[in-house]
Parts: sequence; C-alpha cells; structure tokens
Amino acid sequence: MTRVVFQPGGHSVEAEEGVTLMQAAREAGLALENQCGGLGTCGKCKVLVLRGRVGPPGPAEMEALSRLELEQGLRLACQTRALGNRVEALVPPRSLVMEQRYQLEGASTAFRPQPPVTRRMVKVDLPALGDARSDLERLRQALTAQGVRLGEPGLDALRKLPETLRGDRGEIQALLRGSRLLDLRPPADRRPLYGLAVDLGTSKIALILTDLESGAAAETAGLMNPQLPFGEDVVSRLDYALRGKGQARRLREIVVEAVNRATRDLCGRAGIRPRDILEVSLVGNTAMHHIFLGLPLRQLAFSPYVPAVSEALDIRAADLGLETLPGAIAHLPAPLAGYVGSDHLAAVLASRLYREKGVCLLADLGTNTELALKTPQGITCCSCASGPAFEGGSLRHGMRAAEGAVEEVRITPEGEIRYSTVGGKEPLGICGSGALEALAAMREAGTVEPGGRIIPGRPGVTKEDDELGFRIARRHVRSGKPRGWVTLSQRDVRELQKAKGAVRAGIEMLLDHAGLTAADLDKVILAGAFGNYLDPASLMEIAMLPPLPLRRIVQVGNAAGVGAREMLCSMRARRRAQRLAAEMRYLELATYPRAELFFASCMLLSEEALQSFLRKWRRP
Ligand code: FES
Repeated sequence: MTRVVFQPGGHSVEAEEGVTLMQAAREAGLALENQCGGLGTCGKCKVLVLRGRVGPPGPAEMEALSRLELEQGLRLACQTRALGNRVEALVPPRSLVMEQRYQLEGASTAFRPQPPVTRRMVKVDLPALGDARSDLERLRQALTAQGVRLGEPGLDALRKLPETLRGDRGEIQALLRGSRLLDLRPPADRRPLYGLAVDLGTSKIALILTDLESGAAAETAGLMNPQLPFGEDVVSRLDYALRGKGQARRLREIVVEAVNRATRDLCGRAGIRPRDILEVSLVGNTAMHHIFLGLPLRQLAFSPYVPAVSEALDIRAADLGLETLPGAIAHLPAPLAGYVGSDHLAAVLASRLYREKGVCLLADLGTNTELALKTPQGITCCSCASGPAFEGGSLRHGMRAAEGAVEEVRITPEGEIRYSTVGGKEPLGICGSGALEALAAMREAGTVEPGGRIIPGRPGVTKEDDELGFRIARRHVRSGKPRGWVTLSQRDVRELQKAKGAVRAGIEMLLDHAGLTAADLDKVILAGAFGNYLDPASLMEIAMLPPLPLRRIVQVGNAAGVGAREMLCSMRARRRAQRLAAEMRYLELATYPRAELFFASCMLLSEEALQSFLRKWRRP
C-alpha cells in the first residue's frame, strides 16, 4: 500500500501501490481538472511531485509538459503512478476544478479568534415598588457584579432593553464590544455572532460572512467592482473622481450600494438579517479606502501621493452607509502608503510573511501589484503599476477569466498550437493568465525574441491589419459561430512586457535596495485571486519571476480577504497588524536611482538577457 499526500492542505489517502495520482486525489476528496478524461492530452492535471517514488514520465507527459516543467518535476496526475510507501505531491490551484479553486481563494492559515464582540448572560433584578431604578441602571449593576464595567450603551441595545429584560424574567444576553453594550438577545438565543469581512479591490470585491467566535466563514460572495466603467485602474479611477463635482461621491455611493446588495444576498443565504452583523472589517488599496470613507483624494492623486490617514480606524458602520446593526463598528486597518493599501497589510498578515526566515517575497498580483520583501532586517514594500493587461484589459482579444477565455497555451515540438479555455467552452478571447502563458509558450518555441519582437515565419505567426500576431484559436462569437482568430498581437506582447516588466523591476529594486540579488531569494509567495490562475513555470520562462525551484513558490489565493477575516475575528491579529504597519518600510520606486533602467531591462523576456543588463545598473 502507498500513502499519497496532497499539499497544500495535507489531504491524504491510503491506496494500492501503482495508483495514479489522479485516482488518489479523487479518493482524497480533491477534484482535479480532467478535460481529456485522463488520456494525458489536455495537460490540465499538473502536480508537482515533492517526495517519494513515482513512475517515469511516459510519451504523453513528454508531449504535454514543457522542458522547464519536466525539469522542475511537474507531472500529469492522470499519468503518474505512485510507487513505494509514501508519495507527496503539491497541487497548483489551477489544476483544481473551478469550484475548488474558488474555495481555495479563501483558504487560510489557522488562527485563534479573539472576537471584538462577546456575549454575556446576566440576571437582572426586575423592578418593583420601592425599586424604581431604570432598566439600564439595573443592567449596569448586574454587570458590575460580574466584574464588567459598562460604558456608554448603544442605541440599538437601549431600544430593546425594556422588552428583552421583561421577556425572560430578568434573564438577558448582553452583546458587548469592550465596555459598550452593542445589542441584546434572549438568553436562549444561541445563534452565531456574525461579522462581515470585505476586501475592496479595484476590479473585484470579496465579502465573507463570518462567525466571530469560531472564525469560520459562513457564506462568501465575489462581485465585480461597479466603479470599473469609471476607470480600470486606480489612477484612472482617481482621475475620474477629481474631474467633476460630485464624481467622488458618486463612486462612493455605487460601491456602498454594491456592498449592501451583496450583504443582503449573503444574509439571505445564511438565513439572517443584515442587522445581525455586529462587526465589519474592510481592507482595500488606499484609493478605494479613501473613496469608501469619502476622504479627500487630491493629495493622493498627485506627487508625493500622501494618504489623508495612515492609521487604523474604527467607525460606526451606519456612518458609512452600511446596512448592518447601526451601532456595529467597521474596522479599517492602516493603509501603508499612497499606493500600498491595507489589503497588502492584510496579505502580509495572512501569509505569515513576517515569520519567514531567510529572504522571502510576497507578490499580490493584479492591476496594481504590491510587493513585500522580508529579509532578516525587516519588511520593505512597494507598489508597481502593472496595468490592466493582467486582467485581460488593453489586449486586442483580452477578456476576464470567464468561460470561453483561453487560459492555457502550448506549442508542441512539431509546432502545433494547443490551448484550453476556462470551462472547456468555445474560445471567445484570452484572459491575462492565458496571455502570459501564450507568451511563455512563444518564448519556449522561439516565436518571440528576448526583446519582444514576434518572428515572422514561425508557427502560428501571421500578419493582420499590417501587424504581426500569434494565432491561438478560432474565435467564436456568442452565437457559437467561429469568426476570426484569438490572436496575441505584437502590441499585446508589448503590453504584457510592460506589465510583467513593472513587477520584475519592483522585485529587482527591492532586492537591490536590500543589497541582494534574485539569487538570494529563498521563497516567493504569490497572492491575489489572479496569482492562483498563474503557472509559476510560465512566469519564469518570460523572466517575470526570478528562477527558483517550483517547490519554493507558494500560491495562497486571496490573502487580503483572509487577512481581513482574521482581523475581523481577532483583536490579537489587529494588534499584530498595527505593529506590522508601524515597522514595515515603504520604498518609492519612481525615485529609486536608475529606476528607468531597471524598468527597461526587466521588460526583456529572457532571464539571461535581463541579468546581463541588470548587472550594469545594480548598486556596486
Ligand atoms: S486529465 Fe487531461 S492530461 Fe491529465
């Protein structure tokens, strides 16, 4: 018998020796992508063998996996047989079926809740002739007898007090936030105490309805940020907000309304009312944070990009227009800088970057990418304007990672172009991760030069509208009829170079600032939902990430949302986040010495070429 263990998560199963890793995964409760029915042709079920003996790669794997992937130990789960008594394999998020990928977006490190709201059972004396103390006074004295000093009562609780007190002959359940009486319930009401964690991204908003006492997520929701039509990235969003009177207010109103609508939906699914939400924790980039609070934006939009506030805030949810218990508190952790928000702080907290020994990089990838480098000297963070290409925006046939988006591309040694789409549907366009994969495949096949020029005459290369491009798949329109091709044009390649170059330049400048080089990196953590869809081997092929063994690259999903949930349920986590915010240093890339040379070098698509240029610009 063989024990097969799947990481991250440690799902494990005892199986007959010779079992395929696909079968073992199924038994262990993991559903891997399986578009070809296990024939070894779709290449969707990749896993990285970490430990133990497995059979050698067969012809199907030689064909479906790239040279780099094979070198790094990637295998097709449907073709790989476990031998010996124990095999351990790492399942990249993109090898999971969509449903399980979504679950992983909220995966988290275990934490011990220390909720901001607690419940206390109290027996209050009922009024009688000769005892005309007010109901509040009675409650106050009963709590004092339990060693609890009651401060200002909340209005929500005060309105319920007389009735609740008399309903159960003086037995009462007090919900307290510190010394503040937040709400009251009958003593038999053991419903969970709910809180809401919100990750307010430029493109997407994630909400997690959470049990404050256990820390468990009850319901989750994800929606597109309704501000998107007013600017795809932070800069254009700020530009819109500042261009006309009332436009910032409009941005605020539509996002508050979207959060409220999603909250109502979440509560409906959980069988509760929005006013049962007792606490909120909200993270986001600094622009989203300021827009949501209705803070002035001008100082944020112009150099030196100063936030109006850089400390954690506790604000009445009702003052923000949130449909929760009106007296509930919304906790907004500290933004770190004008372009590094509290979402990055939450990601640092959730990924446990601060505990890493050695040199570790956290990259939260998206329209705006935030990086944090942990060295023995501390954590330094920075922000890179990677632009909308990673979301499929600004690409000729770009689209979001929805059904029909090309998400994987390969060129076989014979020059045949293979691809797969999200949900296995007819191709409609290409998403950001698919475009990066296509670029990696083109690099590997020699279809594009290290400088980014597409080479005429190579497989798939054609000229359309006087521009060279790489044809990937027949493009279907919504009616299902093919029309034209999904192509990566020369201009698209340039857009991707700029986006990936911005990220790599950020990495190199952080390392340079610490007196280190890419060779000193011990580990990379990729965060953000987008980071989950990426193939690290492809990112190395195009020199977006420095070369590292794949086992030293960890994909953690939406770490910002997880951090927001942790801060929602744990006062300890809030204190930790405050300490981190005070200790973390911010590096401004725009004024970094020779920044433009770092950017220019990092647009190159070959590690060798990039390093030969970087050697010239690095600090001596
Ligand atoms: S399921 Fe298609 S290659 Fe493994």
